[in-house]
Amino acid sequence: MKTSGGSEAAKRRAGESAAATVDDGDVVGLGTGSTAAHAIRRLGERIDGGLDVRGVPTSFASRELAADCEIPLLDLDEAIGPDAPGIDVAIDGADQVAVGRGDDPSAGPLIKGGGAAHAREKLVDAAADRFLVVADPAKEVSVLDRSVPVEVLPAGRSVVAEAVRAAGGEPTLRRAERKDGPVVTDNGNLVLDCAFGEISAPSRLATTLSETPGVVDHGLFVGLADEVHVGTESTVRVLTR
Ligand code: A5P
Repeated sequence: MKTSGGSEAAKRRAGESAAATVDDGDVVGLGTGSTAAHAIRRLGERIDGGLDVRGVPTSFASRELAADCEIPLLDLDEAIGPDAPGIDVAIDGADQVAVGRGDDPSAGPLIKGGGAAHAREKLVDAAADRFLVVADPAKEVSVLDRSVPVEVLPAGRSVVAEAVRAAGGEPTLRRAERKDGPVVTDNGNLVLDCAFGEISAPSRLATTLSETPGVVDHGLFVGLADEVHVGTESTVRVLTR
């Protein structure tokens, strides 16, 4: 369910550009996916050079990579709450980013969850003081139109599928690629990829999905991104909201 296209060089530029904004002492949300991985590796290199930061992983995969890069880690509940340091900045990828066009190159809502990590990603990204999205140009669209990943409690799968159909979507249970049966998330749940066609009112759809019993969380991230770092073959464009 990943977006195709986008060179590794462009992803690396985006990830490294966001990692360059991290300051000494920061607590950093560590996103999931191939673009966020470049930011995590760059943070590891900066730690080798003396930077003092701690990371909050958003998935099993980002925890594993951060540990390989020797980034000191905090669990989410150690980072947020009374007497906790909070999250200064989160760096995370996206499957689609709605951007303004022409005179309005601003960053809009996102679709995430191509790696089924969106529930924890949303917790971390929403809690951060600054949320930086890292992407390549293949992710930019004027109107979101990818399937929206919806993490569901296994027992609620059919009920949620009905609610998605009632909201005008077509749900498909995400199947595992090297295992028989469905994808099971890091939280032990299932994922419905829900096709709505062009999403003209992402905020309204996000609310509808969030209000559906059985939905753990969905991949529409509305009003959360502060900056989008778009890597290209030769440079990085930074979009703000
Ligand atoms: C993980 O579930 C996703 O939200 C990823 O952040 C998203 O799929 C972007 O991944 P890539 O950077 O690998 O395209």
